[in-house]
Amino acid sequence: MLPLRPTTLEIDLDAAAANIRAVRRLVGPQRKIYAVIKADGYGYGAAEMGAVFASNGADALGVADLSEGVRLRRRGITAPVLVYPNSLPEAAATTLAHGLTPTLVDLDGARAYSAAASGPCEAFVKIDVGLERLGVPAEEAAKTIAAMMELPRLRLAGLCAHPHDSAGGDPAYAEWQLGRYTAVVDELEGRGIPVPVRLFAASPFVLKFPQTYLNAVDPGRMLYGITFPGETSPVPLSPTFRALTSRVIALKDLAPRERFADKAPFPVTAPMRLGVIPMGVADGLNRLHAGRVLVRGRMARSSSSAARATSRSPRPRWHSGTVWVSTTWPRRLALASPACIFLAALRSPSPNPNARRTR
Ligand SMILES: Cc1ncc(COP(=O)(O)O)c(C=O)c1O
Repeated sequence: MLPLRPTTLEIDLDAAAANIRAVRRLVGPQRKIYAVIKADGYGYGAAEMGAVFASNGADALGVADLSEGVRLRRRGITAPVLVYPNSLPEAAATTLAHGLTPTLVDLDGARAYSAAASGPCEAFVKIDVGLERLGVPAEEAAKTIAAMMELPRLRLAGLCAHPHDSAGGDPAYAEWQLGRYTAVVDELEGRGIPVPVRLFAASPFVLKFPQTYLNAVDPGRMLYGITFPGETSPVPLSPTFRALTSRVIALKDLAPRERFADKAPFPVTAPMRLGVIPMGVADGLNRLHAGRVLVRGRMARSSSSAARATSRSPRPRWHSGTVWVSTTWPRRLALASPACIFLAALRSPSPNPNARRTR
């Protein structure tokens, strides 16, 4: 069928499946994995990613807010879903009606869930151990959680956190945050409140600090094959991003301007051929690409009006959205993130050695 819009983001579901299996090997069979698919599955599609993770070893899924959880249920995802604390207490009934597990951060929220529940209501509590964002501050947590658990129907399903990953991954800083967390667990258990699920490690900690795995982990970005400079994964991870492809939908031959040359949206100092691809910021163009596109395996610089609007430089940056080509009518483009160049070269029927070398 003819695509309604000839721009496609290709996601590698096999890579996503291999990544969650790799995390399973890393953390072992006993620990629970909460696969984080917040922000629409990090942009790759929450329902698609959630389905792959759930059928390849994730015990549960983690989302940023209630709307994401409800969308997953509407898409037929039946796996346990933990909703991180970004929802209003008024939404308690909706959360429970969709079979989602809430995360509490204060007594008001706890009261709302206690009132909305018609039977036992399993809830997580988030502890702030270092990021200074949402979560009960670690030193107050045991007392607050004990008060929450006195409310009718509330049951503590587990504790979660989102520890701060400092640049450089200082082990002492990681240990300090872990210590703040485990102190809460110990104090709760000392008060007779068991903590069934102990979630602490997101990707940076799963990658670097096995002692933080406890009995459950909640990685996000590593499941999509995303690691940061300086990070080495103990297990192989592959990018779920495969390619962003489009087609040239218009071609123009440009000559240098005789008037207002300095006002031109981009410098035209010699005759050039310009091709337009139907993509923009809404497609994530600024984020994903490196200012170049491949046109039939040949590199072409790119620019866009959006890039100019966001650029601080008085001169436009050669950036996204429009591609300059010097070949005959091009059929297919692949945006030139390094991974993409490589994949495009590999998958091209007659791989272009120049395209390969650009990696
Ligand atoms: C509470 C919580 N846990 C885990 C994650 C996953 O983090 P990462 O993508 O670094 O693995 C997030 C993401 O923001 C989060 O908010």
